[in-house]
Amino acid sequence: EKGGYPHFMIKEIMEQPQALRDTLRGRIQGGRVEFSDVDLDCCLDGVEKVFIVACGTAYHAGVVGKHVIERLACLPVEVDIASEFRYRDVLWGDKSLLIVISQSGETADTLAALREAKKKGIRVLAVTNVVGSSVAREADRVIYTWAGPEIAVASTKAYSTQLLVMYLLGLYLAQKRGTLPEEVIASTVRELRGIADKVEAILEKAGAVEAIAEKYAATASTFFIGRGLDYAVALEGALKLKEISYVHAEAYAAGELKHGTLALIEKGVPVIAIVTQDELQDKMISNIKEVKARGAEVIGIAKEGLAGIEEETDELFVIPGEDSLLTPMLTVVPLQLFAYYMAVKRGCDVDKPRNLAKSVTVE
Ligand code: F6R
Repeated sequence: EKGGYPHFMIKEIMEQPQALRDTLRGRIQGGRVEFSDVDLDCCLDGVEKVFIVACGTAYHAGVVGKHVIERLACLPVEVDIASEFRYRDVLWGDKSLLIVISQSGETADTLAALREAKKKGIRVLAVTNVVGSSVAREADRVIYTWAGPEIAVASTKAYSTQLLVMYLLGLYLAQKRGTLPEEVIASTVRELRGIADKVEAILEKAGAVEAIAEKYAATASTFFIGRGLDYAVALEGALKLKEISYVHAEAYAAGELKHGTLALIEKGVPVIAIVTQDELQDKMISNIKEVKARGAEVIGIAKEGLAGIEEETDELFVIPGEDSLLTPMLTVVPLQLFAYYMAVKRGCDVDKPRNLAKSVTVE
């Protein structure tokens, strides 16, 4: 059942190219995004504000979704954790859309947020991996991620496909709203088509990530830093590491370091720095210098061709060149692998981490 792999988690990490191809299928036509399987217009027409609500890893996909929809479709987006969102006084407005993201489609807090919106007459679009799940049944429209069954408690391929759906939706909204020139849409669509191959190329270098994990397996505490979309992925990388390897991991927006967290950086602390946002790379290099000056061991995840990064990092994992908007789909892969190999080397129960359940149906 694990297809020759020792754990479901690594099997599911390796299945990502296929999951991405399956999620893209039927949704691109002639250089444009078309959701041939679902009529989204009743959900999207006239929308002036978007809320994205989810938990855990799905929430992290929502953080990327906020950047993507704001940038591509020029729509304001609020993203929130379901267990926070449902208990605050949301200023809904009447031209709003709620997007809920849930792999299982059964997460109690996410479902409660959906029901609250429906009660208020707000349109709800669900992004889920499980056909016929509660979220799928109760939302106005559903975009399925076709990741296939995810067995490991730690979510990997579901997250990648959720990101892909965020890009497709961002582009679709841009087409509807006329916020992007045709050629930008066409070139972004072309890059999306090539993403699965790039993920595959990264997976072929899993051994390099394993060697890095070997070096840091005994570590007690780590930091993940990035800016913009790289920060969004840092959140996910840190969660993966905590949840399966029990190593303390904190994600930080790199610009926030000097507002407090820098005090925790001392000799030998691993700092995983993600550097793929073209317009923010100089700022990130300065942040890397800051932590290095305090003795941190820097593990860089950077886009190929980034000048000067080699000298600043102790370990470097290079991802293929890509539009800065789309790099989250690539940078998350070495972070998933890092968490996996750290957990294996620390003797943890990778697929069933302590205290956690795959589907959180209680509040
Ligand atoms: C982390 C993880 C969880 C889930 C969260 C939401 O690896 O799997 O954080 O992402 O419990 O679950 P769904 O997406 O099923 O609503």
